[in-house]
Amino acid sequence: MHNPEQQRFLQDVIDGLSKPQPEIPSKYMYDELGSALFEAICVTPEYYITRCDIEIHQRHADDISRFLGTHVHLIEFGSGAGIKTRLLLQSLVQPQAYTPIEISAAALQAAADVLRFQFPNLLIQPLQADYTQPINLDALEICPRCKRRVVYFPGSTIGNFTHAQARNFLQRIRDICAAAREGVHAGLLIGFDLLKSPEIMLPAYADEAGVTAAFNKNLLARVNRELGADFDLSQWRHEARFNADEQRMESYLVSAAAQTMTLAGRHFKFAAGGDIHTENSHKYTLESFQAMAAEAGLKLQQTWTDQKGWFVTAYFELK
Ligand code: AVI
Repeated sequence: MHNPEQQRFLQDVIDGLSKPQPEIPSKYMYDELGSALFEAICVTPEYYITRCDIEIHQRHADDISRFLGTHVHLIEFGSGAGIKTRLLLQSLVQPQAYTPIEISAAALQAAADVLRFQFPNLLIQPLQADYTQPINLDALEICPRCKRRVVYFPGSTIGNFTHAQARNFLQRIRDICAAAREGVHAGLLIGFDLLKSPEIMLPAYADEAGVTAAFNKNLLARVNRELGADFDLSQWRHEARFNADEQRMESYLVSAAAQTMTLAGRHFKFAAGGDIHTENSHKYTLESFQAMAAEAGLKLQQTWTDQKGWFVTAYFELK
């Protein structure tokens, strides 16, 4: 009845909901509706991350470009559909090649088409792959004239990884950098969100208009739609919490009443006030991120921040 991807989804939901603290992996938030809702979150007044990130790309464009030099091969982890990619490519001097890496073929194609139109001299070679898994390094060997290979990961998505996942991920990026041809510099340009007062972070993850709530609840709607569960959406509400010990924002769905949900013949009971953990957004200090990158073999070269000093774009190279 289910294709292998849906089987995986079903198994992940069953496993997650069977844990003492029920959870559903946040990667399932991004179906078509979830991705559109995330775009809407980015323009809510409370969600500062995207605005800070774009501000950094605008204010420091010349400096970032000077730092990276000419003849860059930009390798983006993500589809490159966003304004940040265009700002960066515009500011670079004679960028040579661009490889977006993304699991969704449709998102990849759409972004590549737009960029081909805007940057006709750039070699654009999309790679359809799950960037949380090892990447085929041969597929990145596309640019004989390039002087620098830059892996680009804006937007603080690394915050959604556990620390162990983030460390592994940085190690794989280190490997991509180490595999660059001799004489080619290589590094990582990455965004991450700085630890700050919960008074700023809590509203960012629970906007007044309820867009984040809709984004979170769409996860249950997706489980209903795709896996045939019977979550009663009216009986769940979104809650954002700051976990000071783990230095992260956490998203939950909280049950309004005692209820039972049925999925694939299994029954899951929730008490009134019981919850499902759906997302972590880790926050870092410059020092804590630097230490994690150092463990992965990457050394900080330069940082840029927004005017409020809330978000960082950092450039790392091999140690
Ligand atoms: C995609 N990611 C960086 C967002 C974040 O801030 O963790 C996802 C998000 N979740 C709720 N609001 C935004």
